[in-house]
Amino acid sequence: MKIAVLGTGYVGLVTAVGLANTGKHILCVDKDLGKVEKIRQGISPIYEPGLDELLLANLERLEATSDTAGAIKAADVIIIAVGTPFDGKHIDLSYIRQAAGEIGEAIKDSNEFKVVAVKSTVVPGTTMDVVRPIVLEHSGKRDGEVGFAMNPEFLREGNAVEDFLNPDRIVLGVSSEKTGSILQEVYNGYRNSTIIMTNPTTAEMIKYTANSFLALTISFSNEIARICENLPGVDSEEVFNGVIHDKRFSPIVRGERIIPQLATYLRAGIGFGGSCFPKDVKALRAFSEDLQVDGQLLNGLLHINRTQLEHVFKMGLHHFNGGGPLKRIAILGTAFKPNTDDVRESPGVKLAQMAIERGYSVAVQDYIALQNTKELLGSEADYYDDPLEAIREADVVYVTTIWPQYKAVSDEDFEKALQPHAIMVDTRSHFKNRAAKKWRFRIGVGN
Ligand code: UDX
Repeated sequence: MKIAVLGTGYVGLVTAVGLANTGKHILCVDKDLGKVEKIRQGISPIYEPGLDELLLANLERLEATSDTAGAIKAADVIIIAVGTPFDGKHIDLSYIRQAAGEIGEAIKDSNEFKVVAVKSTVVPGTTMDVVRPIVLEHSGKRDGEVGFAMNPEFLREGNAVEDFLNPDRIVLGVSSEKTGSILQEVYNGYRNSTIIMTNPTTAEMIKYTANSFLALTISFSNEIARICENLPGVDSEEVFNGVIHDKRFSPIVRGERIIPQLATYLRAGIGFGGSCFPKDVKALRAFSEDLQVDGQLLNGLLHINRTQLEHVFKMGLHHFNGGGPLKRIAILGTAFKPNTDDVRESPGVKLAQMAIERGYSVAVQDYIALQNTKELLGSEADYYDDPLEAIREADVVYVTTIWPQYKAVSDEDFEKALQPHAIMVDTRSHFKNRAAKKWRFRIGVGN
């Protein structure tokens, strides 16, 4: 079986490499010759832990090409993993439409049954009502002569390789039984994973619902944390700890409590960022508006996320009592989360922008995201690799990304680097297990 993956961005490349790792022959298609060349050399064009190694190990089964039509003709299954740019409200389907048109043209003269699977995150109905008609029109084929599927990804940046190799579930939204069995073959290297077989529109809805639910959990935690901050002696971490010990949430199996990973989303923080949650929740909200569904919850969770940044920023200003004007703000962590250099919708970057807009001088530090941060903040910030250097002249320091490296810095070292009047706001409870310090403030704690 040959599989063509159209688009070698984040999702496409991880999918291609992951499937090649199960012995499948993959054609990686991209119009960007630079990317194609890099992949041929075994170098990943994106940063993702473990991806370079896996790419190199599977190079013999990965054929990178910019010949879209040739790859489609050679493939049994064509996976669409092209980008869906976002205008702040709706996703733009032009690349999806273009891919569907190219697929239609390329399969015109083929007598084989091919499956077109959409992997890009698309609003419900896109696979059957947008992709299918375009493919059929361009190919001159009839319904049933081509298989259509929606096969969402659930990859966390920074963990994408691990998530692809050990999927918790594989959702196959298929247009027919025949399409379903072909896709099952694509994933037959993942025997321990649950396969959820459904129709394409349900699969599209699963993806949006999963991300909106996680985002909702984060915003819920942040709202609860804001209430706790008004209650002296109350720590939201303790409150959530009490909540998650409900056995409906964390069951006791053979005498042992199983704490679900979801518990990590039940924590106060600075709000969610990244390329998925903000975009997906907004796209679902716009979709629900189009359906005239009153989306109070989606609106509310986005509102909380937006205002949480401002809330955290003000917390620093409120606690600063330097006996003089506040001049410089340091942000520790501009990646939207650890183990990625991605700064899209990153709370750390947004906080820096807020500080710059208000006229403060700004120092930013990160371990791998500085280059991308520079593209957004330019000469308006000072850049540091070392957190202790970044905080040296700051009045207020915000710790915004939970890089594990920060935990290796002792409080004595922080104290030596900080000016005597400076304060630190721990926006993600990264240092919750450390002794209280008069210079450190944690969100979600009443005092
Ligand atoms: C997410 C989903 O988890 C994944 O299943 C989906 O397919 C793609 O979108 P990702 O965006 O990589 O993955 O990151 P995730 O680890 O879920 O975090 C998203 C954002 O939420 C980050 O800004 C993170 O810092 C924030 N977050 C996460 C919190 O603020 N609090 C938490 O408790 C957890």
